Amino acid sequence: MAILPIRTLPDPILRQKAKRVKGFDKSLRHLVEDMIDTMRAAPGVGIAGNQVGVLLRVCVIELPEEKGHVRVFVNPEVLSRSGQRELEEGCLSYPGYRGKTLRSERVTVRAMGLDGKPFTVKAEGDLLAHALEHETDHLNGILYLDRMLSKDAIWPVIEAKPVEAQAASE
Ligand code: NI
Repeated sequence: MAILPIRTLPDPILRQKAKRVKGFDKSLRHLVEDMIDTMRAAPGVGIAGNQVGVLLRVCVIELPEEKGHVRVFVNPEVLSRSGQRELEEGCLSYPGYRGKTLRSERVTVRAMGLDGKPFTVKAEGDLLAHALEHETDHLNGILYLDRMLSKDAIWPVIEAKPVEAQAASE
């Protein structure tokens, strides 16, 4: 298990389309384990193959309310999406910013598990629906910057430092 370096813009791999996984073997399980470690260390709600430098259609999601339960999606495909909602989001590959995006209300995704068995997940109006769109976008070379409500609907995130740390650094 390892924490992998996270690719950030303008790394071109973030703009490439990931390839379908064909082998459900040990190397896939190993990749997923590393992706989980990397996501947790960041910390983030989800991470996709491109973000760790692997152009394979794999993403993982761990919702804050499901800590310890990681959802693994191999070869995910969005079967349908409907409705619209405005959301706020950030991305590990574009750190230090958050932006307002337009996303779907309802999302249905078909994917395979680590065992190659297909499953379908439906999400509506929640963080899972949001994360499913964000992560499947990554696998198609799309970033939330492409889903912005408007060009200027983005702002830097200022991290509040503890008083001690401020004193030490100054
Ligand atoms: Ni992202």
